[in-house]
Order: sequence, then C-alpha cells, then structure tokens
Amino acid sequence: MIATDTGRCPLPIPIGWFQVLFAADLKTGDAVPLRYFGKDLVAFRTESGAAKVVDAYCPHMGAHLGYGIRENAGKGPRVVGESLECPFHGWQWNGEGQCTHIPYAKNLPPRVARGESILGAWPVREINQQILVWYHPQGEAPTWEPEALPEAAAGNPDWTAFDIHEWEIHAHMQEIGENGVDGAHFHFVHGTSELPETEFQTFEEHKRKGKFVTRQPTPRGVVDGAIETCSFGTGLSIVRFSGIYDTILLANITPVEPEVSHAMYAFIQPSDTAESLGKTVGKAIIANICQQMEEDQIIWQRKQYFERPLLCDGDGPFAKFRRWYSQFLVESA
Ligand code: FES
Ligand SMILES: [Fe+2]
Repeated sequence: MIATDTGRCPLPIPIGWFQVLFAADLKTGDAVPLRYFGKDLVAFRTESGAAKVVDAYCPHMGAHLGYGIRENAGKGPRVVGESLECPFHGWQWNGEGQCTHIPYAKNLPPRVARGESILGAWPVREINQQILVWYHPQGEAPTWEPEALPEAAAGNPDWTAFDIHEWEIHAHMQEIGENGVDGAHFHFVHGTSELPETEFQTFEEHKRKGKFVTRQPTPRGVVDGAIETCSFGTGLSIVRFSGIYDTILLANITPVEPEVSHAMYAFIQPSDTAESLGKTVGKAIIANICQQMEEDQIIWQRKQYFERPLLCDGDGPFAKFRRWYSQFLVESA
C-alpha cells in the first residue's frame, strides 16, 4: 500500500457513486482486483453478463479473490456461473456475498447454509459504458441514482468510441473538484487569455451544474464557446464543450485513498466529422484538456487544504461549493 496520509487535507473519502472500471475492461468470465476507497476489492462479470463488485478477502481463510492460480495464473480466478471461485480452496461466492458452493464440505457452516451475505458486496450500476459502485463508510444504501447519457450509450453510431485518458492524482477529491468553480486559475495555470464568464452555477441536492462562456482565439478569429458541466455527487461529471467543435467529456474521479484519486476521462465527439475536423480540431481540444490536467496536478499534488482560505470578491463560489460538497463527507463509524 502506498503511504498516502500526507496530512495535507483532513477530509474523509466522500460517499456516492464512483466509476471503478470501464465496462469494456470487464468481459464475461473476467475477474480483476481493484483498490478504491482505501479497500481491496474484486470486480467480476458473471456468465449472465452482470458486473459484480465484492470485498477482496475470502471469508474462509482470507485469500485474495482477485488473483487466479494454475491455468488462471496471471489472470483473475475462475468465474463459475454467477459466482467467483476462490483460488485457495475453491469456495464459490456470488455478487451478493453469499457462499454458493464448498466443494469438499459435508455439512455447510450455518451462515452458509442460511444463505447469509458473508462477503462484503457493493451496489453496482453499469451505465454510460462504465461500471460504478456506491461507497458509504457505514454501508448505507444509495440515496440517488446515476443518470444515463444517451450520447455515451454503447454503440451509439452518432458519437465516436471513448477516447480514454487516466491519471493517478495525489490529492483529495475535493481539491480537484474545486477547480470547477475556480474561474481565476484558468488564466494563471492554463494560460487562457480571458477569464471565462460564469453564466450560471447551481447546487441542488446531489447535482451541481454550471456554465462558463468563453471567447477562444483561433486562426479564424475569436470563437464564442461554452463549457457546460453537470456533476452527480463528487465522482461523476459530464462536461460539454461547444463552439469550436462539439466534445463531450465524461470526467470521473474515484477515491483510491483519502489523498489519492484516480481520474478517468472519456471523450466522445460527433462521428460524422471524425475523419475530417475531428482529426485536427477535435484532437487538439482533447489534447488541451489533458494538458490542463497535467498543469492542475502541479498545484493539487502539493497544496494544503485551508478551511478558511483568504478570498476576494473575484473568486469563484468556493463557500457554496464546499457547503454542497459537505453533504458527501460522512465520518466512518
Ligand atoms: S480462503 Fe477462500 S476458499 Fe479458502
Ligand atoms: Fe484547472
């Protein structure tokens, strides 16, 4: 495990829906080890095609359920029907955490016989070509649902396949999220010529929406553009860039440890111009956003979280943002 508790930010891991995999990276019969939320987990896809996420350690003798043995060495363990087979003694566990088979037991342990959920099982949703899990430190059930984005549905012919970019960022999730309400940093960190203008910012229940209007200098003159963001909790965002070339970014960030976050960015653009404008302008837009992620990290990975920063009138709505964010910060039991 990485030493992560740097003490630069005292906040806990936020609750909510978070991406743990792209759906295409978990084929039927696959099992993969994951580390998120400061925990070891395993994702697997059953024969019927359902994605499941469970705690990593087999309740029998504690083997890690994410690593196969013998003919499965170097891969995940076997998936048998709807269950995952532990590599150590062959007990089988389903996505609800029940033990479905013990190959050599004459009498089942009572908890197994009663069909109890013994292995920790996580709520999973598969949506927008992503596999999401619900995190709550006390195991409370989801209080809202992720939303489907029709443009990002698998096989949508009007939009390109995902162009994926990922980063491991050594910063707490909230420090990354604050970027979205921080208009002033765009000029200094990213070199944009003018400060983007905020058309609106709303904070409602688990959703945060905002629209920036921009004026971008291009070889053909200044082009009016817009960046519209909708965040669902702290981990899932959809960002639409319009003006120069329509681009949709599914910008997801998942906590690995309190101060380590995994950013998974998936871009889609209109297919009809993918071979023309997409190759030049489209690619340049994506490269620019990725460049911004590199620039932001120079700040994020070293900054200190201040509960009471010294703000001025031209700063973004940090206080509002933090009030909204605080609904997701639940202390563990
Ligand atoms: S440790 Fe998993 S079956 Fe024994
Ligand atoms: Fe930024």
